[in-house]
Amino acid sequence: RKPLSLPRLADMHARGEKISMLTAYDATFAAMADAAGIDCLLVGDSLGMVCQGLNTTVGVSLDTMRYHTDSVSRGLRRVQGTAWLIADLPFGSYQESREQALRSATVLMQAGAHMVKLEGGGWTTETVRFLVERGIPVCAHLGLTPQTVRALGGYRVQGKGDAGALLKQQAHALQDAGATMLVLEMVPAALAAELTAELKHCATIGIGAGKGTAGQVLVLHDMLGINLGKMPKFVRNFMADAPGVLPALKAYVQAVKDGSFPDDQLHAW
Ligand code: KIV
Ligand code: NA
Repeated sequence: RKPLSLPRLADMHARGEKISMLTAYDATFAAMADAAGIDCLLVGDSLGMVCQGLNTTVGVSLDTMRYHTDSVSRGLRRVQGTAWLIADLPFGSYQESREQALRSATVLMQAGAHMVKLEGGGWTTETVRFLVERGIPVCAHLGLTPQTVRALGGYRVQGKGDAGALLKQQAHALQDAGATMLVLEMVPAALAAELTAELKHCATIGIGAGKGTAGQVLVLHDMLGINLGKMPKFVRNFMADAPGVLPALKAYVQAVKDGSFPDDQLHAW
């Protein structure tokens, strides 16, 4: 496989080929997911919960994100991996100013990220534009944005009813600012599908957002059944029917590609 790039991702999007994404926090899992044919890996700040034992992502530092991005990037390099590598800008590393966002994004890009992701709409639009103009590909993130879970009042579905119109408006503004990917987390399937049809230059990646998005993402540990708490409704445990980790990862990629994951009845709102 040739390494994924923005033009190749845009081509997949235009052709309607589903984009597969998983989180990765270390070199070995990154290399395995790459071997399974994953398109994109996300060094998500969910590593705060998965690796650090935190209750929310709020406590994850930029230095921790750099450490894990470095590890994942080295893992990919070792196997000459082709996955597109996205890293989360953690809470507090981009809210202050566009310049702060650029400095933080630089740290993650220098650690090997190909793209950075940041949460929220509205005020983030100008930050996205600032980064994209300076050569940093950006993935936006709307719906349930875990860094602001305290303000949202909990881990609950977003964009229901009237809130859907605002979410759409924010998504269009982010696309116009140059965001080429958009994670939609825990939003109604119908809203995600409508937005996906509307956004021609920004690929939607759903998590708990139904099957109508341009791609899907899950937390790696969740889809391998490695989860201490209650499994979110939108997760499928791919280890349940697989003889090992690599086959489970391959089954996930296959299920995203052929549209058999997610199932709107079981995994969406
Ligand atoms: O941190 C993370 O894992 C994420 C994905 C769930 C989209 O942001
Ligand atoms: Na995240």
